[in-house]
Amino acid sequence: MSTDNNEVDLSKPPAEGMVRVTFMPEGKTVEFEYGTMPYDHHGKPMSFLDVAENYGIFLDHACGGVCACTTCHIWVVKDSGKGISEAEDDELDRLDMAADQQLNSRLGCQAVITGPGTYVVEIPSWNRNYVSEGKPLTLSQEK
Ligand code: FES
Repeated sequence: MSTDNNEVDLSKPPAEGMVRVTFMPEGKTVEFEYGTMPYDHHGKPMSFLDVAENYGIFLDHACGGVCACTTCHIWVVKDSGKGISEAEDDELDRLDMAADQQLNSRLGCQAVITGPGTYVVEIPSWNRNYVSEGKPLTLSQEK
């Protein structure tokens, strides 16, 4: 079972086996049982991009989630779960080209949630206009 912002009780930690992800600065929180989220074919399975796509949260991903751009750049603000995958060399090389790189920088398509827990990530400011205006239409949705 999964829930979105309207149903997540933020006054309590997530139940055992659950993953809770908050996307800042919007504060949009989603929660789902670890291992149950379907793969949305964007980035690595269980990456933050995969989570965002599953819940209709816009996280730019110009290369389609194959570690060939930096548009999915995020900052990991909190990781109190079993963790997030270590960055591999190709991700680190790509991150060197990212604007506003910080010690907690990751590529949203490559950073994979590896266990239940609470995660907070921030989408850098140069990506926020898209977020505040909502997820853009894909070609198949245009009329
Ligand atoms: Fe291009 Fe993540 S979407 S590197």
